[in-house]
Amino acid sequence: MGITGMIYMVTMVFSLLVSILSSSTVGFDYFQFTQQYQLAVCHFNPTPCKDPPDKLFTVHGLWPSNKIGGDPEYCKIRNPRKRAKKLEPQLVIIWPNVPDRTNHTGFWSRQWKKHGACGYPTIQNENDYFETVIKMYITEKQNVSRILSNAKIEPDGKSRALVDIENAIRNGTNNKLPKLKCQKKTRVTELVEITLCSDKNRAHFIDCPNPFLPGSPYLCPNNSIRY
Ligand SMILES: *[C@@H]1O[C@H](CO)[C@@H](O)[C@H](O)[C@H]1NC(C)=O
Ligand SMILES: *[C@@H]1O[C@H](CO)[C@@H](O)[C@H](O)[C@H]1NC(C)=O
Ligand SMILES: *[C@@H]1O[C@H](CO)[C@@H](O)[C@H](O)[C@H]1NC(C)=O
Ligand SMILES: *[C@@H]1O[C@H](CO)[C@@H](O)[C@H](O)[C@H]1NC(C)=O
Repeated sequence: MGITGMIYMVTMVFSLLVSILSSSTVGFDYFQFTQQYQLAVCHFNPTPCKDPPDKLFTVHGLWPSNKIGGDPEYCKIRNPRKRAKKLEPQLVIIWPNVPDRTNHTGFWSRQWKKHGACGYPTIQNENDYFETVIKMYITEKQNVSRILSNAKIEPDGKSRALVDIENAIRNGTNNKLPKLKCQKKTRVTELVEITLCSDKNRAHFIDCPNPFLPGSPYLCPNNSIRY
């Protein structure tokens, strides 16, 4: 092999490595659809919420994620189509900036840039990101408040067993396991977030692969979870 052949080989191997590395840093293999309980968000927010919260689970974000390894963030934007203004009336209801309702758009664009752009090609562009979340919450009935309410679990501040919350969610997600986040203040543990997981094409629900582990401040106990 001549010197040109050598250079060619080295270049090929190098560009193959670069493409493997970069695809693994931007790749994802499932989606987390995370909703937050407004009352608890305000209890645990470092600064007080400017407006009173509703007793509702509303969207935190739709996050392309990896079963093993880190989740992608701040990916390159492949298709520049922006969020249409006409989506805003629905977004304000299902995806409010709970601590600061004067700045919903700041919250939405942060979520899009940090997470949404990494969902390509399932998520085509910024407009598609927001349309998809509206479709999931409303048309596909992934409204967690409603799923809990279907199982007679209402936001009345009572203590619940973890298994009752999980089973209520399973009934709305083809019997798949959600991911739950709890937080504790002065010995009372509150339900803060519920995440529904689906495959990377958003075709089916899956069991959420990465629960909070023992030792995490967000681990939900088996009993006495306030909602
Ligand atoms: C709204 O939020 C964005 C993103 O966090 C921030 O950059 C911007 O300064 C905020 N705007 C106001 C008026 O608070
Ligand atoms: C979500 O479900 C709750 C509880 O049933 C309901 O009050 C709320 O209006 C629903 N949100 C939407 C946008 O349908
Ligand atoms: C299960 O889901 C169905 C359909 O949404 C609902 O009518 C029913 O009340 C739910 N049952 C429980 C136990 O959650
Ligand atoms: C919580 O419940 C799970 C499943 O039933 C069980 O494996 C685990 O040991 C329980 N944890 C505690 C601290 O009781």
